[in-house]
Amino acid sequence: MGAVGDWQSVPPLREAFAGRFLVGAALDWRQSAEGGTLATDIACRHFDAFTCENGMKPEATQPEEGRFTFELGDRMVAAAERCGATPVGHTLIWHSQTPAWFHTGPDGRPVSRDLALERMQTHIATVAGRYAGRVRQWDVVNEAISDAADEYLRPTPWLAALGDDYLVEAFHAARAADGGALLVYNDYNIDMAYKRPKALRLLRELLDRGAPVQAVGIQGHWRLHDLNLAEIETAIEAFAALGLKVLITELDIGVLPTRYRGADINHREPMTAEQRAELDPYTAGLPDDVAERLAEAYRAVFAIFMRWESVIERVTLWGTHDGASWLNGFPVPGRTDHPLLFDRQGRAKAAYYAVREAALAAD
Ligand code: XIL
Repeated sequence: MGAVGDWQSVPPLREAFAGRFLVGAALDWRQSAEGGTLATDIACRHFDAFTCENGMKPEATQPEEGRFTFELGDRMVAAAERCGATPVGHTLIWHSQTPAWFHTGPDGRPVSRDLALERMQTHIATVAGRYAGRVRQWDVVNEAISDAADEYLRPTPWLAALGDDYLVEAFHAARAADGGALLVYNDYNIDMAYKRPKALRLLRELLDRGAPVQAVGIQGHWRLHDLNLAEIETAIEAFAALGLKVLITELDIGVLPTRYRGADINHREPMTAEQRAELDPYTAGLPDDVAERLAEAYRAVFAIFMRWESVIERVTLWGTHDGASWLNGFPVPGRTDHPLLFDRQGRAKAAYYAVREAALAAD
């Protein structure tokens, strides 16, 4: 047993949610050998769904055409099975972390429609096919909706080659590769008023066109200073009304000042030396008052999830402990964020207790 408050001594979070929905975590297998790290140990005790933070993205699974690499994905799936957790696939079709060869024709110009479709189908058949029957949920398409006010779909190379058919085709290919996995459309800020109508439109169109989309993933990269609970609940209700399951796929609540509200990984905000005190205030640790506000924010979002537990299949945290969070490097590189339930030493934060209480309070 660890010291009081350690990840080892506090009750497994997953037990508080048993029978409600899966509570998951993302693990970045690029740094860790088989098991044994703080992140994997925390995940194995507390979470019952695992997502590869990077290991199943196209750049990881097919870095060159026809050369598939499954080392990281295999490791995650094996660890999930060992820990009694559900392996989750992320992601098949995306504009980021996808090698340029996917979109380049033999003549070096943008790929033709036929070749783009063939490459998409081969990729999905091979990757989703490898894990068929083991990965239970797949983020089939990630972040297809534009953030721009006057634009509906994000202008990606997939859209350029295939038009909006690319989404329909991706879902059909995923279903052909794996008849049983829950097929998910995943995106950020689709709970927010500026993007929610476009998400509802896209999901309706996909359903009308017969695409086998079954669930919507709200990423849930939220910020403490502008968390909008009403919009989150409105979104869950609206997506559920389409007959879809709802997942929170990448939950974290950043505590650092950030101008950019999105989660497009291509966005970067530099920080000058003079700005550091203002933009990176908690390098020595999270002050108690901020830790309490973070805990109340987590309590509030989980209270919403409990109200909607009948449509929510899974809530996944984007990381295990604060030291493993991508927000330490995004959108401003080199900061010290504290967005998760366990701190850098693996101690349960006030947010951990708040989330657990939110689950138990709903009984
Ligand atoms: C992030 C990972 O956490 C980072 O390690 C990586 O450098 C970039 O991608 N939305 C998504 C995730 O769907 O795949 C992203 O993950 C975060 C935003």
